[in-house]
Amino acid sequence: MFEIKTKTKIAPDIFRFEIYAPLIAKKFQAGQFIVLRPLESSERVPLTIMKANREAGTITLIVKAIGLSTRQLAELKEGDAVADLLGPLGKPSEIGKFGTVVVVGGGVGTAVAFAVAQTLKEAGNRIIIISGARDQSFVILEDDLREISDELIMATDDGSYGVKGFVTELLKDLYRKGEQIDRVIAAGPLPMMKLIADITREHGTPTIVSLNPIMVDGIGMCGGCRALVNGKIVFVCVDGPEFDAHQVDFDSLMRRNNAYRDIEQEKEHACKLDAQIEEMKRA
Ligand SMILES: Cc1cc2nc3c(=O)[nH]c(=O)nc-3n(C[C@H](O)[C@H](O)[C@H](O)COP(=O)(O)OP(=O)(O)OC[C@H]3O[C@@H](n4cnc5c(N)ncnc54)[C@H](O)[C@@H]3O)c2cc1C
Ligand code: FES
Repeated sequence: MFEIKTKTKIAPDIFRFEIYAPLIAKKFQAGQFIVLRPLESSERVPLTIMKANREAGTITLIVKAIGLSTRQLAELKEGDAVADLLGPLGKPSEIGKFGTVVVVGGGVGTAVAFAVAQTLKEAGNRIIIISGARDQSFVILEDDLREISDELIMATDDGSYGVKGFVTELLKDLYRKGEQIDRVIAAGPLPMMKLIADITREHGTPTIVSLNPIMVDGIGMCGGCRALVNGKIVFVCVDGPEFDAHQVDFDSLMRRNNAYRDIEQEKEHACKLDAQIEEMKRA
């Protein structure tokens, strides 16, 4: 039983879960994810494992409730169990001694990049983290990030906390200051990762992005997560989720990710109506 051991709201609609999953906690390597269904009736949700506690047998997930299934997860309480949970999935991150690595996280992308940053730090790299949020209320994981970085730049779009500016501009600032950057890791919204790739391409810096396409099974069977990398079709769930940013066709991926937006909104609306009808019946 995948019991929710702790649940904490860390920002508007963003939750930190510790879930009991001892086998996954034991096998997890940085960069991998799980697929879970909050309820028997839910769709599958891919989520990156931020960290694992092997002794306690738990994994930590940071979840932004943006649609039906993530909201169903956000409604569960400590002591509840998720219906099922599969993992660890995907290829682990490439870990090596690269030198100075800049890790850029936008929104919950900060959580997605966390384990990679931590493991690269343990491997002897100098880690600079740029973590961006819309405003102060959306700033997440500052203490965790401070622990695993040599330099931490917390940024908000409106300047209400930390440095004012978009993560892309702050990366440019590092180059302007003459910082020797040996590798960049980025996770966040696709347009952000595309911009990061454009910036680092100019400087010839090897760059890895963690892609977040729509996934269905998460094990390479459905083809739902396909993307174009270096002109070839890849399945992000089994071939990734991390890829060379300079080879990713972001435009086609953004089109695919937006394709289901209307359907998902209709589904959520229908579900809300069902819930209201049930409530009226009970009253
Ligand atoms: C490998 C991987 C790791 C991920 N890790 C995390 C994580 O650690 N924390 C986290 O909060 N989220 C993560 N995500 C994104 C998360 O899986 C989606 O937000 C979730 O599946 C949306 O499901 P939903 O039913 O709540 O929303 P839906 O109702 O399905 O979608 C709501 C809206 O979000 C869009 N959407 C759906 N899935 C995605 C997606 N994958 N990327 C961008 N837009 C999407 C839809 O088009 C729609 O507009 C990850 C995705 C992948 C593929
Ligand atoms: S999610 Fe089905 S092939 Fe990747």
